[in-house]
Amino acid sequence: MSKSHIVWVSRPLFPEVLATLAPYVEVRAETRETKRTPEQLHDKLANVDGAIVGLGDRIDAQVIAGNRRLRAIANVGVGYNNLDLDALTVAGILATNTPDVLTQTTADYAWALLLAAARRVSSAERWLRAGRWRGGMRFDDWLGVDVHGKTLGILGMGRIGQAIARRGSGFDMPVIYHNRSRLPEATERACHAEYVDKAQLLQRADHLVLVLPYSAENHHAIGADELAQMKPTAVLVNIARGGIVDDAALAAALREGRLAGAGLDVFEGEPSVHPALRELENAVLSPHIASASADTRRAMAQLAADNLLAALGYGPNAGHPPS
Ligand code: DGY
Repeated sequence: MSKSHIVWVSRPLFPEVLATLAPYVEVRAETRETKRTPEQLHDKLANVDGAIVGLGDRIDAQVIAGNRRLRAIANVGVGYNNLDLDALTVAGILATNTPDVLTQTTADYAWALLLAAARRVSSAERWLRAGRWRGGMRFDDWLGVDVHGKTLGILGMGRIGQAIARRGSGFDMPVIYHNRSRLPEATERACHAEYVDKAQLLQRADHLVLVLPYSAENHHAIGADELAQMKPTAVLVNIARGGIVDDAALAAALREGRLAGAGLDVFEGEPSVHPALRELENAVLSPHIASASADTRRAMAQLAADNLLAALGYGPNAGHPPS
């Protein structure tokens, strides 16, 4: 029987998740990953009631202009800076995201980048694969910086920041953090974390992880001035959003030895990556995959699908498939 609601899925999604939508709504799912122009997005959304989108889909006033049908946008991701919430609110379109399900996986990945950059894992692997390992083991080669026992700094202490902090105990690391608002004492105790102002964070952290959401106010929160305050032996990890770091200033600091290393999963203007960063052996670069374990990506997709169904009035908490 025909279904009254149509849902567009902007990029390939797990078939088992799409199958949970199918009893309720007509699903139009893309099978290829494509970067779309605002005009193309506008056309895709023109005759649908809901959509599942991701970070690469910028949904703003231009894209929803004149659209009287669209009721809900479900973002696969906890960050939602790709959505213009003001424009969506004015148009009466509900927006949802996928918090919690990715917290632990994303925290694991911050540690993967920190350890890889501090201990030069990517660079050593490239060297080995190039067949350059010949003379046994030099005592003074491939020297990284230690992680255990060092002071871990965290900028942005939401759910993911706290999960990263808790892992610090396993590495005997004192944790300091800065956040827009200070956490309750009980949470600080659970994370073994001390609140400091931003200048202290930059100056005292042996390694610094960025986990703050992107906003105009956080644009280039780490730029040349901030980098100049950090220790030259420090590693900077960004799993938050490109744009929070001034990538050109970071590349200069890494090149000039003013910073030991960086682990970067996000970039200004991604998928393009600043050419200076690509040249650097002391930067570990990955294509925005911090939440990409099979279980977590499936959970994010399912949560987005459930959110969309609920927003359209279906699902376990909102009703039953039309019979
Ligand atoms: C998130 O969930 O915000 C990840 O960065 C993917 O967009």
